[in-house]
Amino acid sequence: MHLRDIRTVKDLAGKRVLVRVDFNVPLRQAGSGYEVDPHGDWRIRRSLPTIMYLMERGAVVILLTHVGRPKGMVREDLRVKPMAMRLSMLLNEEGIANELVWTNFERHVPRGAERQLLLASDCVGTKTIEVVDHAREGDIVMLENVRFQAGEEANDVEFAKALAEGKDIYVNDQLGMSHRAHASVSAVTSFVPSYAGMLLIDEVQHLSAILNSPQKPFVFILGGVKLETKLPLLRAMLPRVDVMHIGGAAANTLLSAVGKPVGRSMVTPGHDTVVNENGWEKVRLPVDVVVAKDTDGIGVRTCKVEDVRPDEYIYDVGPETVDAIRKDAQRARLVVWNGPLGYFEVPLFAQGSTRLARELAVLNTAQTETVVGGGDTEDLVESVGMREKMRFVSTGGGAMLAFLSGEELPGLVPLLE
Ligand code: 3PG
Repeated sequence: MHLRDIRTVKDLAGKRVLVRVDFNVPLRQAGSGYEVDPHGDWRIRRSLPTIMYLMERGAVVILLTHVGRPKGMVREDLRVKPMAMRLSMLLNEEGIANELVWTNFERHVPRGAERQLLLASDCVGTKTIEVVDHAREGDIVMLENVRFQAGEEANDVEFAKALAEGKDIYVNDQLGMSHRAHASVSAVTSFVPSYAGMLLIDEVQHLSAILNSPQKPFVFILGGVKLETKLPLLRAMLPRVDVMHIGGAAANTLLSAVGKPVGRSMVTPGHDTVVNENGWEKVRLPVDVVVAKDTDGIGVRTCKVEDVRPDEYIYDVGPETVDAIRKDAQRARLVVWNGPLGYFEVPLFAQGSTRLARELAVLNTAQTETVVGGGDTEDLVESVGMREKMRFVSTGGGAMLAFLSGEELPGLVPLLE
């Protein structure tokens, strides 16, 4: 898949470039407001190359993101101000001195030599255009949360026109939202010449290689909660992989389908026909599990998968299962992991996933490529400090699942060469 690359546009000086980023990152309370969790700012960091590329070439960089799911309403806790603050700090760290200017700036505010990062109080309308007018070459304008506007999720054409107003170029530089036909990734591309940014191109190159020409042997590790949401991915990957390990709550339905006791764990009958499909022989299910009577860990123990009792829930995979995955991964040239192997939000049940993250980080060598993706898996790898040790960590979340499932992504189609 070849996307139109923003780096092919020759003269960017003075151009107003609307860049759709995904700064939907974890926030934490700070005093009476919020700040970006410093361990969760990786999506902002990954956007820096495109932002800096445009700034250095004298474009006016107009950033647009969604935050959370405010459903067309303004919510104080979902404003983009904390992201703007973090971006300003990261740019300063990169040696790009900049001054953050709040929404209530005066039009002719005296300014020093630094570039400005202007924070607008909306993402469309006259006032927003005034803020953009105020920006100089190499400045950034950060627009307010696009999901405060009902037109965004409706992929509304008039709203998309308003987003495009006064912009010379549009750049999509995120994968996380590209599976949704929303105005800021879909309809907007009808009104302004549109390109992909470096982050998006990097994502598409890595994920296309997995889909079209995976290195062999190829081991896929599939976890997560709901088997039904993972089935398209499972079916798309089975013909491509040499081995697929399945863990997490998603495995319970399959364990039950092959006649193993799963105690009180939730199973979703009707989604288990995959056990009779072609390729099932490549699937490996957990051989041991961590069980308990509740999420507080009452009666927690590790047992063979055959020994789960009727009053127990399966909350994690056991050490033998992680060993089995490691052994297959050691022989592989490509290992892709999507979805935690247990109820990782509770530390007691995060051990299988944590250990796997460490094993994969060690395996990432010249001959083995380890790729991680999916919202929870990214967070998990980050929380155990293994992000930098993987070959590639996708920022995609649900969009990565959709891409690897072979779906057509509405945010990518308009950017195809
Ligand atoms: C994500 O966090 O996966 C993306 O930002 C998409 O967010 P959404 O699921 O709210 O559309």
